[in-house]
Amino acid sequence: MSSVTAVYPGSFDPPTLGHLDLIARGCRLFDRLIVGVLRNSEKTPLFSVEERVQMLREICRCWPQVEVQEFDGLLVDFASRVGARAVLRGIRAISDYEYEFQMAWMNRRLAPELETVFMMPAEAYSYLSSRLVKEVFQLGRPVAELVPPEVEARMHAHGGGPQVHG
Ligand code: PNS
Repeated sequence: MSSVTAVYPGSFDPPTLGHLDLIARGCRLFDRLIVGVLRNSEKTPLFSVEERVQMLREICRCWPQVEVQEFDGLLVDFASRVGARAVLRGIRAISDYEYEFQMAWMNRRLAPELETVFMMPAEAYSYLSSRLVKEVFQLGRPVAELVPPEVEARMHAHGGGPQVHG
């Protein structure tokens, strides 16, 4: 069977342990996994796209089959450019389904040859989202168990998080 490339797209602002868990699962299924960071997905991002790409490259350096790229425009066009046959998306709870199904159906309409593959993260990350991580951090609580250490360090470097004493 020929090798299969998949795209794992998202905003990744910031990358969480849930994202990392999905990437690890994707690596077991696909020969090549392109993590695609969408440019301009949020009006007031915590991290620039360049910072997100850099962090994801650091976090994913242990997986030779993972590449991290930024993209703009339609996901289906990006997938076609990198030769992907599948899009990987994480589904955490029933509440994710509506949005994910809408996207998957639209992407299928735009590119019928591209399959969307949904995977569940580990149960421990089923409640985790970048939005909540940002909120918890900005309101002064630690996020060490929610994001990779590289990301936590950068969040602290940005400021606005919990005060570290001693
Ligand atoms: O992590 P997110 O923010 O849920 O990821 C959403 C993302 C980046 C997958 C989605 O917004 C996307 O694919 N945007 C690119 C534009 C596009 O293709 N839109 C039509 C999809 S139906």
